Amino acid sequence: MKTVCLYYSRTGKTKSIMERIAMLLDADLFEYTDGKDRSGAKGYLASCVDCFKPLPQVSIIGAEPEWEKYDRVIVGMPLWSEMPCIVGKAFLRQFSGRFNGDLHLVVSHMAGNDYDRAIRNVYKYSSAAPKSHLSLQTKNHDCGHEIRKFVEELEK
Ligand SMILES: Cc1cc2nc3c(=O)[nH]c(=O)nc-3n(C[C@H](O)[C@H](O)[C@H](O)COP(=O)(O)O)c2cc1C
Repeated sequence: MKTVCLYYSRTGKTKSIMERIAMLLDADLFEYTDGKDRSGAKGYLASCVDCFKPLPQVSIIGAEPEWEKYDRVIVGMPLWSEMPCIVGKAFLRQFSGRFNGDLHLVVSHMAGNDYDRAIRNVYKYSSAAPKSHLSLQTKNHDCGHEIRKFVEELEK
């Protein structure tokens, strides 16, 4: 199976998770963004406000993947205010119609909460039904075990 991984990351946590997944699956890796600078404390506050705004327009940095080359698509995003972030939702809404392969979501969050319901809630933004999702706590927690388990499940 040829996999493409795509992510949005404000502070690098989702990025490093997706890099690990891409490495384990020998996948191609792309970053998507809405182009807004959300760095630092000001960026954190802006992100809080953005949760209540209409979904932004997003783009993939560099060239768009040749979707037909991939039979698996993994989309990563952080969770903001108890919901996967607006940039991730916007990405699914805008691009999922072009996916060729099975879709899986990866959502990173600080807390050890079970965000299963919140993550399932974003399935509706995607025109391709996700086959699975991985919810990962990032604060004071090494996600290595969950990442390996997720990849093992995909490879079964
Ligand atoms: C605006 C905002 C709201 C957040 N809300 C939550 C939340 O409700 N629950 C949680 O566990 N983490 C929350 N977080 C933390 C991030 O989800 C977490 O740190 C994530 O792993 C960051 O990923 P990133 O570095 O790829 O941006 C929030 C972060 C931001 C910026």
